[in-house]
Amino acid sequence: MQERIKELLREVESYKVETHIELEQFRIKYLAKKGIINDLFDNFKQVAAEQRKEIGQQLNVLKNSIQEKINNFNTNKENTVESKLKNTDLTLPTDFSVLGARHPLSIVRNEIISIFSHIGFTVSEGPEIEDDWHIFSALNFPEEHPARDMQDTFFIEKNPDIALRTHTSSVQVRVMESTKPPIRTISPGRVFRNEAISARAHCIFHQIEGLYVDKNVSFADLKQTLLYFSKEMFGDKTKIRLRPSYFPFTEPSAEMDISCDICGGSGCNICKYSGWVEILGCGMVDPNVLENCGIDSKVYTGFAFGMGIERITQQKYKTKDLRMYFENDVRFLRQFEQAL
Ligand code: DAH
Repeated sequence: MQERIKELLREVESYKVETHIELEQFRIKYLAKKGIINDLFDNFKQVAAEQRKEIGQQLNVLKNSIQEKINNFNTNKENTVESKLKNTDLTLPTDFSVLGARHPLSIVRNEIISIFSHIGFTVSEGPEIEDDWHIFSALNFPEEHPARDMQDTFFIEKNPDIALRTHTSSVQVRVMESTKPPIRTISPGRVFRNEAISARAHCIFHQIEGLYVDKNVSFADLKQTLLYFSKEMFGDKTKIRLRPSYFPFTEPSAEMDISCDICGGSGCNICKYSGWVEILGCGMVDPNVLENCGIDSKVYTGFAFGMGIERITQQKYKTKDLRMYFENDVRFLRQFEQAL
């Protein structure tokens, strides 16, 4: 028992008590009802009579040193709440907890949504795993169209009718099937294509689809909507250029370029010295597509467009390698929110 008391004395002396919580833990450990001291006094009852005096004294020394430690802490002025407050400058800013940053693709997607919401477009979504009807057939893709090829599309092995959507145009079909015109909506989402990953292409990327169906919607409405979008997104000086193109689900179809905002149109390596950068596909919704979705093409017309969010983000922030958007390196990702 004497050995144990000596050991405890050393322990008490070196015990670190720096906060009120630690003090309470210290007190409970030694002085509580079921604490070490009471335990020792219980054992003391069995100590032989001739040893009682000596061990009793040692026990008291131990108990006093514990009590003394508690008293010292309490009388030490620096430990009082008032003194702590006195030495603290309450006007100093607190430590900020480090927050994550929004992904550049999310920042740009939200910006696009906000631009279109100002002219009355709602946001709609559809499934990433889709059937052939919504990805291809309803959109007027001929049977032998190369996009239906295994080389371009990820099909589900057990059911060739099901695939990962290759574009967000599938959401157009879902919206037209379930909503009566007037329809004005944009559909952001992930799309999948069987492409080799490189600085310019990825097998997963993001698109935003736009759709406007109503009576008397014209190509002029499409052009003006896209001009408004481009100026909001890339600046007031931005010009647009529409080139004739082909998509199975629009007629006529076009691709849209914006004037390169790096060189202002005079030519640089970003625009490959043409002064123009292609950013989206668009056109008037093919009457066959309207009919496929249960909309009377004699009463209604519409326009649609689709753009890659990565492409827009690359153009806006001048990043060269697409793969950086998927690597999740925080040093890359943190730069964008600050740039806002
Ligand atoms: N779905 C097309 C693609 O992935 C993009 C597109 C072009 C969407 C023309 C449209 C459109 O709505 O009218 O390449």
